[in-house]
Amino acid sequence: MSELNLSQLGRAGDFGALAHYADPAYYAKAYKSRRQDVDYYVALAERIGGPVLEYAVGDGRVALPVVRSGVEVWGVDLSAPMLGALKARLAKEPVEVQRRLHLTRGDMRSWRTRRRFPLIVSTFNSVLHLYTRQDVEAFFSRVKAHLAPGGRLVFDFSLPRPADLALDPGRSYSGMRLRDPSSGKLVKYSERFEYDPVRQIQLCWMQFEPVDGSEAWSVPLTHRQFFPQEMEALLHYAGFRDIQLSADFEDKALDVDTDWVVVSCLAPRAKAKKRRK
Ligand SMILES: C[S@@+](CC[C@H](N)C(=O)[O-])C[C@H]1O[C@@H](n2cnc3c(N)ncnc32)[C@H](O)[C@@H]1O
Repeated sequence: MSELNLSQLGRAGDFGALAHYADPAYYAKAYKSRRQDVDYYVALAERIGGPVLEYAVGDGRVALPVVRSGVEVWGVDLSAPMLGALKARLAKEPVEVQRRLHLTRGDMRSWRTRRRFPLIVSTFNSVLHLYTRQDVEAFFSRVKAHLAPGGRLVFDFSLPRPADLALDPGRSYSGMRLRDPSSGKLVKYSERFEYDPVRQIQLCWMQFEPVDGSEAWSVPLTHRQFFPQEMEALLHYAGFRDIQLSADFEDKALDVDTDWVVVSCLAPRAKAKKRRK
């Protein structure tokens, strides 16, 4: 498809938020080696216990290892292809593992259940699909409604780096060759970045150019950029408590070399009911 402008992208549910997830085979291949976060969330779920609610469960990269470890998971995602891929993977698991994973197609800003969870997670930049203050407020309100008293919300996102936000939109970066799992073609892969400093949204065009000279294609991915102090303030003013920011799934302090901000916080205290006179 022709490359849209950043001003046309960057809303929850739009093409920039979902196109990358329309190709679960490529997603699975691209992030296969990403294991540290999976181990972190499995250990967290085992420690806190289930059931766990995972917003933006995707193809189950994290949820499947969690249910294999014996913890029950409710998974919500907006992408039908990602959920389809997860269901296909789940069908190959033993029956007791299948029974532990409950999947629904839904928007993390609006999906509702009467269940309450001691742990809610949203992994691997999924919160970067919350583009506006209203998106964030809607998501936090759903989290608060679904957390059990004393329950914990844990999520992670990449630390914005000034150098990455300043990349020249007129240039393509990388150029490695890879085998596209859907078409089977050998392609030259590159990325082009555009940043909107007002909306704090970065657009990455993932560009695939078959080496056999056949037609190239591009896939957009838009991410809201959250600065760590901004995220802490948003959580604080939404009433979350015990807000801890740590680095790179190692429970260490954030510093200039941090890649991943891991956020852990407690549900707001329930309001005391007014006693009738
Ligand atoms: C980077 S993937 C993460 C998937 C999985 N949690 C993981 O760690 O691999 C982001 C996921 O967010 C989902 N998503 C984007 N916007 C959403 C929304 N508003 N509500 C629910 N899911 C959404 C996408 O469909 C995609 O599966």
